[in-house]
Amino acid sequence: MERIVMNLDYEWRFHRGDVAVQKMNSHADSYSSCKSGAVVGPAGKIWNDADWRTVDLPHDYYAESDFNENNLLSHGYRTRCNAWYRKSFLLDEELEGKELFICFEGTAVNAEFYFNGSLMERSFSAYTETFFDITDRAYFDGRPNVLAVYIKGLETEGWWYEGAGIYRHVRLYAKNKMHIAHNGIFAKPVLKKGTKNSWTVEVEATLENSAYAEDTASVKATILDGETPIAEQILENISVAGDTQKAVLQKLSVSRPERWDVDNPKLYNLVVEVMQNGVCVDSEKTRIGFRTFRIDAEKGFFLNGRPLKIMGTCNHQDHAGVGVGVPDSVQYYRIKRLKEMGTNAYRCAHNLPAKEILDACDEIGLIVMDENRRFESRTEVLEYLDIMVKRDRNHPSIIFWSLFNEEPLQNTEEGAKIFRRMKSRVLKLDDTRLLVGAMNGSSMEGAGLEMDVTGINYSLKAVDGLHELHPDRPVIGSENNSAVSTRGCYVTDMEGAQVLNNYDEETVKWGQLVRETWDFTRKRDYFAGIFIWTGFDYRGEPTPFTWPSVSSQFGIMDTCGFAKDSFYFNQACFTSKPMVHILPHWTHKKGDTVRVMAVSNCDEVELFLNGKSLGRKPSDVCETAEWQVEYVPGRISAKAYRNGKCVAKDEQRTAGKPYAIRLMPEASSIMNDGADTAIINVAVVDKKGIVVPYADNLIHFDIEGDGYVRGVGNGDPNSHELDNVPYRQAFCGLCQALITSKLGAKTLKLRAWGEGLEAAEIIFDVSDVPAPLCPKNVTNYILDGFTMSAVTEEKPDATAEIADNDMNSFTPIQFVKDVFQSDFRNGWRIYRTRPKAIKDGEYRLDFLRARFAYGEIYVDGTLVDKIETPVRGGYVSKPFTVKADTTLDIRILLNVQNERFPAAGISGRVEMKETK
Ligand code: GAL
Repeated sequence: MERIVMNLDYEWRFHRGDVAVQKMNSHADSYSSCKSGAVVGPAGKIWNDADWRTVDLPHDYYAESDFNENNLLSHGYRTRCNAWYRKSFLLDEELEGKELFICFEGTAVNAEFYFNGSLMERSFSAYTETFFDITDRAYFDGRPNVLAVYIKGLETEGWWYEGAGIYRHVRLYAKNKMHIAHNGIFAKPVLKKGTKNSWTVEVEATLENSAYAEDTASVKATILDGETPIAEQILENISVAGDTQKAVLQKLSVSRPERWDVDNPKLYNLVVEVMQNGVCVDSEKTRIGFRTFRIDAEKGFFLNGRPLKIMGTCNHQDHAGVGVGVPDSVQYYRIKRLKEMGTNAYRCAHNLPAKEILDACDEIGLIVMDENRRFESRTEVLEYLDIMVKRDRNHPSIIFWSLFNEEPLQNTEEGAKIFRRMKSRVLKLDDTRLLVGAMNGSSMEGAGLEMDVTGINYSLKAVDGLHELHPDRPVIGSENNSAVSTRGCYVTDMEGAQVLNNYDEETVKWGQLVRETWDFTRKRDYFAGIFIWTGFDYRGEPTPFTWPSVSSQFGIMDTCGFAKDSFYFNQACFTSKPMVHILPHWTHKKGDTVRVMAVSNCDEVELFLNGKSLGRKPSDVCETAEWQVEYVPGRISAKAYRNGKCVAKDEQRTAGKPYAIRLMPEASSIMNDGADTAIINVAVVDKKGIVVPYADNLIHFDIEGDGYVRGVGNGDPNSHELDNVPYRQAFCGLCQALITSKLGAKTLKLRAWGEGLEAAEIIFDVSDVPAPLCPKNVTNYILDGFTMSAVTEEKPDATAEIADNDMNSFTPIQFVKDVFQSDFRNGWRIYRTRPKAIKDGEYRLDFLRARFAYGEIYVDGTLVDKIETPVRGGYVSKPFTVKADTTLDIRILLNVQNERFPAAGISGRVEMKETK
C-alpha cells in the first residue's frame, strides 16, 4: 500500500483565550509534569473540551473579533488574544507500523503543537508550515489520539492584519518505512544548450528510510502530459542506510514540450514512485512547467525569449468574511480576478503564501515573486527559508525569490552579509530563480548590490538613479503606486466619511498614481516591470486614515474582489484587447455637473448623453479623456475607436430606487465535501435591473439544506459589522456571501432577502464527491458537576424524580484521584450528573477507579448497565446512545458491603467516551 494522506481540517474544538490551569503545588505534580506524555492542562491528553466550540479549518479567529479604537491600527483594530484548538481522533490498527507525520500548513501567529501529552514542535512564524513525526506516539488500539495547539495570537510578525489560528490546511501522512521525504522532490527542467526546445528534467528525489536497518529500493520517475507518459526512467537498487535520507538524481529528456507561459500556462505532471520487490511503496505527483526566463540590465525581463513587462500586484492574504482562513475556491477566485484585470504577476507580500495560491498562479498563468518573511541569518529563519524553497521550487510560476522587504540594514555591509548568507542557503536548494530584495529609499548599497535584480519600492527617481549608477544591474519595481480609492466613491472626504475618490488622483505621500507609474514603466525598456501595492484591499493599515477606518484602501479591488475604477485604469495599461470604461455611475442629483472619464486603451473616445454626442477626444491609457457633463438622468455611453473604427463600448444608466436583490454566483454548483465554498456576489438593483450605486440595504442570507454561511463582506473599509453572521449591509450597491457545503450535502438553497426588496434565491447543483479521508473524531467528556445522595441501608429508586429546585437532597462531590468517599463503607448511594451532549453517538462511562460490590448505571431513566461482580479499579460501562444538544441525566447507583477499605465509591475522573 502506498502512502495515505488524511485530512485533519474538520471538527476541531476551539477555545478563544487562555485557559486557567491549576498551579502545581506538590513535588509529585512538578516531577510528573516533566515527563514524556505527561503534559497537563489543555495541551494534555485529558482536558474537558466538551463545551468548546467546534470549528472546521481553515479558521481565523481574528476575523470573529470585535474592533476597538485602542487596538493596533496596523492589524485592523481587532481585539487580539491567544487561543487553543484540540482534536481527538482514532487511528485504524492497519496504520500501525507506518510512519506518521502531521503537517500544519499555516498557523498564526506563533504556536505550540502537542500530541498525546507531549510538546512536538513550536512555530515562530505565521507563514511557514510545521511538520512533525508522531510515529512513536500514536495509538491504534482504540485510545483517542489527542492533538492540541496553543496559538500565541498576541505576537506579531508583520505590520498588517495577520489573522490568528490554524488558518491553512492540516494533513496527516501515513507512509511506509521507505518513502519520499517531505518536500523531497525537486524537478528542474533545463533547456539543452544549443537547442530551441529540448529539455533535460533533473529530478532529485530524497528517499527516507525510517527503519533502523539498511534497505534498498528503486525509484521511477515519469513525466506525463495529462495522463500520457512522455519520459520515464528507473534507478534500481538504491541502498539507504537505516534512519537516514538519501537524495537520488535522475535526468529525463523531453523534446518539444509546450511552454509554460502567462498566456498559455501549460503544465505537465511528474510522478515519482518508490518500488520495493516490484511493488510501489510510495509515490508523489508534482506539477512542472517548461519555460525560460532572463533579466537584462538594458532590455528588462524575458519570458520564453520574448520581452515581457512584468505587470504585477502585491497582496496580503485576507479576504472578506473569512480573514486569512481563505477557502481554496476563494484563493482561486482572487487569482482569477487579478488575471481578468490584466496582470501577469503576483508578489506574495511579505511572506510565504498558502500553497493553493501558487497552484492557482501555475494554472492561470501569473509569474510569482515568492517572499521570505524575516531578514535574519539565525538558524530558525534560515530553516524557514529552506522550507519556502523546498516546498515551492517545483512551481513553474515562481521566477523570483524575494529575501526581504524594506529592511533598515539593507544599505549596510551588515545587510549585505545577511543577504549573502540567505542567498547561499537558497542556492544550495535551487539555483534557477532570480534573487531579489525590495528596497525602500533612494540609496542602493549593501544588500542591494548582492541581488540578481534590485527591487525598488515606489521611488521612480531611485529606479533611474540606480540605472544610471549601475547600468549593468537589472532593476524591477517591487512595490508601486500605493494609490488609494474607495469603491463606489467619487468625492474624497478626508475628515468625515474617510473615503477616497476613484479618478486615479489619490495616493500616499511616497506613492504614485496608476497612470504615472505606467507612463514611466512603458518608456523604459531596462525597467523589468512593476508590482502594484495592492491587488486587493486588506484589513489593517488603513492609511491615510486611522479609526474608524479598519481596512486599507490601496486595492485595485476591495476585500471582496469587487472592481474599483482602478481595475479599469490598470486594465487599460496592461491589456491590448480594446476596452473602454466610464466612470462614475450615472445616478446623481438633477443640476449636478459631473466629471466623467472614459478609461480606454484605444486612441479616441466619444461620449454620448442619452444618445447625443458630447464630442470625440484623443485618448491614451495614461491621459484619460474627460468631460464635465450637466447631469440629466438616462444613459451616458462611450465608444472607443482605433484607427477611426469603433472597437469597444461602455455605458452607465441611471438607477431608480432599490427594488430587488440580484445574486451573481461565481459558480452555482458546489461539491459536498464539507469544504467547498461558493462565492456569491450580491447586488441591489432597481426595477430595471440596474445596480443602485448608493444602496446600503441590509441583506439576509437564509440557508435551506446542507450548508452554512461561512462569512460575509461588502468591501467597505470603514465597516465594523461582523463577518461571521448570515447578513450584511450592501456597500455602494454590493455585498458578498461565502457559502460552504456540509459534508455529504444533498441539497443546498440560498435565499437572500431584505426589507422592501424582492428576494432572490439559488438552488445549488450539489455534486457528489468522495468524502475526504479523515480519521474518526471522538468526543470525550470528562464528567463533572457530580452530586451524591446520602448513604442508605435500603436500595433507593435510582429513577425517582429529583425536583429541579431540590438543591439539598444531594451533596456536591468533586472526584479526586485516589480519594474515595470516607462515609461510604456500607449501603447504597446514587451519584448523579447532568452533562450536555454536543455530538450524537454511542458512548461508555469510563471510571478511572471505583470500589463497589454492585452497581447500576442509568441514563435518562433507562438502565444501561448492571454490574454484578465487585469492582476494585478501573471500569468501563456498557455502551449507550445519546443525541446532540440534549442534557442527559446520568445516575450511578452503587452498593458497598462491609468494605475492608476505609472508603469506597469513586475516585479520579469519570469520562464519557465515544465508542469506535
Ligand atoms: C510599504 C510596505 C508595505 C505597505 C506599504 C503601504 O512601505 O512595504 O508593506 O506598508 O508601504 O504603502
